Amino acid sequence: MPARKIIIDTDPGQDDAVAILLALSSPEEIEVLGLTTVAGNVPLDLTTRNARIVCELAGRTDIGVYAGCDRPLGRNLVTAEHVHGKTGLDGPKLPEPTMEIAPEHAVEFIIETLREQPAGTVTLCPLGPLTNIATALQKAPDIAEKLQEIVLMGGAYFEVGNITPTAEFNIYVDPEAADIVFKSGIKITVMPLDVTHKALVTKERNDAFRALGTPVGVAVAEMTDFFERFDKEKYGSAGAPLHDPCVTAYLLKPELFSGRHINVEIETTSELTLGMTVADWWVVTDRKPNATFIGDIDAEGFFALLTERLARL
Ligand code: RIB
Ligand code: CA
Repeated sequence: MPARKIIIDTDPGQDDAVAILLALSSPEEIEVLGLTTVAGNVPLDLTTRNARIVCELAGRTDIGVYAGCDRPLGRNLVTAEHVHGKTGLDGPKLPEPTMEIAPEHAVEFIIETLREQPAGTVTLCPLGPLTNIATALQKAPDIAEKLQEIVLMGGAYFEVGNITPTAEFNIYVDPEAADIVFKSGIKITVMPLDVTHKALVTKERNDAFRALGTPVGVAVAEMTDFFERFDKEKYGSAGAPLHDPCVTAYLLKPELFSGRHINVEIETTSELTLGMTVADWWVVTDRKPNATFIGDIDAEGFFALLTERLARL
């Protein structure tokens, strides 16, 4: 079975970093065609710095890192330093990156890659606000039918909001972009807070990362030590929720996850509920299903996979 070709669109972010490392540790199953960065957790210059730091940590400076949009389609940027720290990758002390930023804009890279690759063979994996994806779809509508799938981290239903009472961060930062993506007709699988809040890095699980004794294992443990304080304080969680790695794990072992194919629409007008993913989980409307919305995870299986794969780097 050939490796699945993916583009990871990302706003690192400690959890983005773990998602990228998991992908890079699994070359038999996943071929990373490139990383495209977007403003989100921290401004674009920092997400682009952090993406290169992660590639160098994984020993993969061959991976192209393409800088993308530095603000949402039509709103001011909202960032999350309160969660990820001022660099966006606080926790481990990692060297400043020396690998180059690829010269092409992320949106051009997405468009050209999708036009060059055989139709239906490339999956987009957005881990941040959907600005780059929506911009690419607006500039080149033809790419929608070229995509195999979009597997994204974003949204929430039963878990409601983490940045407002009703909205999850990635969707909230650029609700107009999310609206474009969810109305695109592309096959979409969504990893909302409903499932990512069940992927918690307990002390035992973080000790297992540290016990790998490798630069990657120790760095992931230190990222999680930093990243967990927000969720522990706010939710009383048993550990940091590994939001973005759920996307990569789904590509590797979809059987770890379960959800429903339902209608999901994005609130783009009400200030009160802006960025809410209105998921028709109970099918109380006749709105057409447009996304597979994941609600559950085999957390033990997820962490066993993650720890085994990180050990390879
Ligand atoms: O709400 C969680 C999401 O927002 C994650 O992708 C995290 O990295 C931030 O981008
Ligand atoms: Ca992210």
